[in-house]
Amino acid sequence: MKDSYGREINYLRLSLTDRCNLRCVYCMPMHGLSFIPTPELLTAAELEKVVRAAVDVGFKKVRLTGGEPTLRQDIVEIVRRLARIEGVEELVMTTNGYRLPYLAQELVDAGLKRVNIHVDSLNRESIAKIMRLATFDKAWAGIEAAEKVGLTPLKLNAVITRGYNDDAAVELARLTLEKSWQIRFIELMPFAGPTEIQLEHYVSSDEVKSRIEAELGPLFPINNGHLDGEARVYRLAGSLGTVGFISPVSNPYCDDCNRMRLTSDGRLRMCLLVDGELDFRETLRGGGTHQDLVALFQRAIQAKPVGHQLRNGQFAENRTMSQIGG
Ligand code: GTP
Ligand code: 5AD
Ligand code: SF4
Repeated sequence: MKDSYGREINYLRLSLTDRCNLRCVYCMPMHGLSFIPTPELLTAAELEKVVRAAVDVGFKKVRLTGGEPTLRQDIVEIVRRLARIEGVEELVMTTNGYRLPYLAQELVDAGLKRVNIHVDSLNRESIAKIMRLATFDKAWAGIEAAEKVGLTPLKLNAVITRGYNDDAAVELARLTLEKSWQIRFIELMPFAGPTEIQLEHYVSSDEVKSRIEAELGPLFPINNGHLDGEARVYRLAGSLGTVGFISPVSNPYCDDCNRMRLTSDGRLRMCLLVDGELDFRETLRGGGTHQDLVALFQRAIQAKPVGHQLRNGQFAENRTMSQIGG
């Protein structure tokens, strides 16, 4: 289904929880957090109903996000329920990978196709500084577990954050010489809320790209410089993998946006960076039918805003990234 700006909306991101076992500096504060109480989270059965309605309005791809989605006790059941829905062509997950050594095989068996793993550095000191509760060994174990069970092609996401992991880009990009992974650098996005990181720590994709090229040689555009999803993708000479840049701040891709997000408490967000939500949980718990959910999706798609207003200094205020799931 097309929105009022002619964009085909076919990608639904489901945040399963606002909790996380890590505390990346730009995402979650160390202290003073309050989380959505469990009874307010959509259950596996409710998520299934939402996705059944979503495929009826043309959604084809579903991504499970968080916080950290693997913290849900019923994560395998959720995957199993969603994987069997006809019309879900791609069921994937974004995770920090920490629990994958225990869960990866079960997730594959339940029908998960692929994961994107968040890792900001390969360096022991800077990983501890930026992802705080993370260690390199555990992050790496998650990545290896995903690869071993075939949750591929694997993408790794990093946010280069001035003063925290400035040097990480080169080492991460170097991985593509030996691994057939896509390493993606996401520009830091400002969110309201109590994280310690504000815009002065932002590093542009251009700067990250220059640093990589200074050390590792030219990055050659693939796809003729066109977007792959929201990333611009490049390759180092002789590499097996690719390097992607997601540049919501310096180079917004709102014109190509194809997605919507459901928060873990059942609110559909039309844009990551613009407040404004529709309450699906109220419909689900108030005896709403499949057709009611379909109608709600249709309304949401019509109401999707043209794009974010970061350049004009307007940020999303009512939720943080960990509550929306990126
Ligand atoms: P693929 O399906 O592999 O293309 O993954 P993806 O990029 O859609 O998912 P992932 O969760 O890895 O997203 C990476 C990050 O890109 C997100 O966490 C956000 O930080 C950013 N991002 C994704 N979608 C949007 C969007 O619509 N707007 C903005 N501003 N940023 C986005
Ligand atoms: N800006 C950009 N990306 C962010 N992420 C979390 N917080 C931010 C932010 N403020 C990213 C992480 C993870 C994804 C789900 O969200 O890098 O890969
Ligand atoms: Fe957790 Fe991901 Fe946020 Fe880091 S970026 S704190 S891993 S939700």
